Amino acid sequence: MNASLSLAERTRQALVGEDFLRGDPITGDRYYSREFMQQEWDHMWTRTWQVGAVEAQFPEAGCVVTHEIGNESILMVRDDEGRIRAFYNVCQHRGNRMIECEETKVKRLVCNYHSWCYGLNGALLIAKDSGDFPQGNPVGKLGLKELRCEMFGGLVWFNMDQNAKPLREALGVVADQLDCYEMGKMTRVMHMTCEVNCNWKVIQDNFNEAYHVQALHKELATFIDDDYQNTEFEVFQNGHSRMLMKGALPAAGVKSKKVQAPLDSIMRHWGLDAEEFQGRTHEVRLALQKQKRALGAERGYSHYANLADDQLTDYYHYTLFPNMSFTMAAESYQILRPQPHPTDPEKCLFDHWFFVRPEEGQVEVETPVGIAPAKPAKHEVFKHGDKSIGFVADQDLSVAIAQQRGLHSRGYTDSYLAGQESRVRRYHEVINDYIAGRV
Ligand code: FES
Ligand SMILES: [Fe+2]
Repeated sequence: MNASLSLAERTRQALVGEDFLRGDPITGDRYYSREFMQQEWDHMWTRTWQVGAVEAQFPEAGCVVTHEIGNESILMVRDDEGRIRAFYNVCQHRGNRMIECEETKVKRLVCNYHSWCYGLNGALLIAKDSGDFPQGNPVGKLGLKELRCEMFGGLVWFNMDQNAKPLREALGVVADQLDCYEMGKMTRVMHMTCEVNCNWKVIQDNFNEAYHVQALHKELATFIDDDYQNTEFEVFQNGHSRMLMKGALPAAGVKSKKVQAPLDSIMRHWGLDAEEFQGRTHEVRLALQKQKRALGAERGYSHYANLADDQLTDYYHYTLFPNMSFTMAAESYQILRPQPHPTDPEKCLFDHWFFVRPEEGQVEVETPVGIAPAKPAKHEVFKHGDKSIGFVADQDLSVAIAQQRGLHSRGYTDSYLAGQESRVRRYHEVINDYIAGRV
């Protein structure tokens, strides 16, 4: 990619052509077949970049975070040279799992079975009775098995494929687009995972379209323009895509002449009087952009200088192949990520992370589950239905179980998609490309 071209031009060049869909059927068995689940694992999960942690979890050498994906556990650690590395979380002696908790701090990585001791760079330093190995002393010879590990956007990414493209290259133009948000300066103030009784793709399908918004998320109409004709959809050749939805703008279906919640309080926060916009609510978006532009720097949002006016109010919703949705706003972003269950294709583990860039001196922030301290959140893990994972995500999940059941029916053979849902079939086709060895 030629970096001297403008971002707009590089974005244009990265798009797929007009007839980008082959029309591969989205059959029901993709959501419940163990064989298909195994194919996804063998050909896709073990080959794609995935987020394992947040860089802020590794303030110093010896900080460890583990991350589960399928049957694997990935161990990430900051080494003595300051580099964050990723290893399979397994001892090279007899296969014991090294670290059983999600987060810890260590001087060395020590297996609790026979006390083999590894350095933070993964090299085996001590093995008890090291002279008693007929095949040779394992010290200086063995080490934890390392994975590719790279940083982007304040996140720690890993890839099980040693031959994978570098992360930035794999993200392509998406990385350049995301840079302007300075994600690394945002704090994860909400960190939740819930187990849901559906295949991971039931949820990912949902995040690849906004056709459901009017039916499932009526509340959003007061501040998001949900008309697909006013929404931009961009599908990139490398499997990623994005959808640009206008924010701070009531949808056409909203009849009230008054500015509705939560837009009225957002305006108040930025020193605008919602009353003054009675009867001209469609003008709020541009007024808010102007106001944010004027006041942003003094509130600590120096990155506004990187953002176009529409990015100050709108939602840039990325779906990064295969399973990450990043919803970008000017001062916050969220990651929605359904991960495959280790053994059951009809279950998944759904992550909802919310990041905020607090204003100067701000101690509390608004999150999808209410007010929270403006500091890193603890990880909450629960089963779907036990508590809210954010009202919008709850609404998305409210149809997931019924769809999972419906997909088993002999009466379902393929989806009949609207044009605005093209990204759904697209990522299924990219999965097929991985499985067929075309990627
Ligand atoms: S399995 Fe780890 S030291 Fe034996
Ligand atoms: Fe939704």
